[in-house]
Amino acid sequence: MPNKELLLIPGPTPVTDEVYAALGRETMSHTDTRLAALFKEALALTKDIFRSDGEAYVVAGSGTLAMEMALTNTVAPGEKLLVISHGYFSDRFMGVAAALGIRAERLTAPLGERVTPEAVEARLQEGRFKAVTVTHVDTSTGVMADVDELVPIVKKYGALFLLDGVCAAAAMEEDMSRSYGAPDHRIDLVLTASQKAIGAPPGLAIVVFGPAALQARAALPKAGSYYCDIANWRDIMREPSKYFATHPVNLIYAYHAAMKIIEREGLEARCARHAAIGAGMRAALTGYGFGLLTAPGSEAPTLSCFIYPEGLEDLSFREALKAKKLIVAGLLGELSGKGFRLGHMGNTREDEFLLAISLIGETLGEFGFSADIPSARQAFLSFYNI
Ligand SMILES: Cc1ncc(COP(=O)(O)O)c(C=O)c1O
Repeated sequence: MPNKELLLIPGPTPVTDEVYAALGRETMSHTDTRLAALFKEALALTKDIFRSDGEAYVVAGSGTLAMEMALTNTVAPGEKLLVISHGYFSDRFMGVAAALGIRAERLTAPLGERVTPEAVEARLQEGRFKAVTVTHVDTSTGVMADVDELVPIVKKYGALFLLDGVCAAAAMEEDMSRSYGAPDHRIDLVLTASQKAIGAPPGLAIVVFGPAALQARAALPKAGSYYCDIANWRDIMREPSKYFATHPVNLIYAYHAAMKIIEREGLEARCARHAAIGAGMRAALTGYGFGLLTAPGSEAPTLSCFIYPEGLEDLSFREALKAKKLIVAGLLGELSGKGFRLGHMGNTREDEFLLAISLIGETLGEFGFSADIPSARQAFLSFYNI
């Protein structure tokens, strides 16, 4: 059952036949030991992606639930949280924190740019923050945070480093075993969801806790949530045939299949493939005359935000692409109508991107813009030669 449309939005991403086949298998009991065995293997593979020596939690829910699970288990009501924001999805932590009674402060940068390390350090000096949230790739602006630069600063001030990997995990390095300058200077937690670079359908919230994040949970008298409290899930994640809440059985099959695909490809190769696709698509489409929203050096391997040339109308352009079965997403907020977001992550193939480049070029032609399709395809291939 292949995808009939080329879904190049920044998630959900195209689901491969192998994953669909797993999803469509007969539903078994949520406590069946055969399901538990698959689930255990999927959890172990999840930890491998992040090289984690901590604990992985995979529960029914979306990325927003994973954000809530991250905060409610690490930061108590009344404690301070610093939110490093590169756009709409980073800002979501402000809403989650407010709902949980956490005192959150936000650091922002001009649209498409990164918050500077100096600004982060200055704010951390001002007061004791329990934790800092960093959105690895903000899906609204395509800005990629510089984890190498930020972990040492955050850890210098004793705060937990909480990484939102919803638009990055399984496509970019998020190594929780790595020491950034000092032994305990590590990424303390990564959260993500099933529907982006992991390549499974939407519906699973994934949170991986490192030792410091687990200690933070142990030190909390209680978590401010029943469903999200990892104390309620710990035994189940160790032995998934036990019951706390019904597992989304078919999604676990699909997630397991997606994890096996990642294992087969190898994380290093997968990260290199994403970096090449990202650079290739930007080279191809800027050649057509599209601008880039994201500042040079901050562009992500997982999605790109393109700005329209003068005179190209957003909705009719995207509708024309949709008529050709190519689906892209609009820009958000104040940039709505000014460009589009193209996801290039997950289990996508070279021929799909070459087709997308051709379809975008043809559509530009129909709207009266010149587009050199062979050169754009060549520009893509000059990066994507792996
Ligand atoms: C970076 C990031 N964080 C969090 C979320 C929220 O995830 P969900 O829509 O699955 O709740 C998204 C959604 O696109 C995202 O891109």
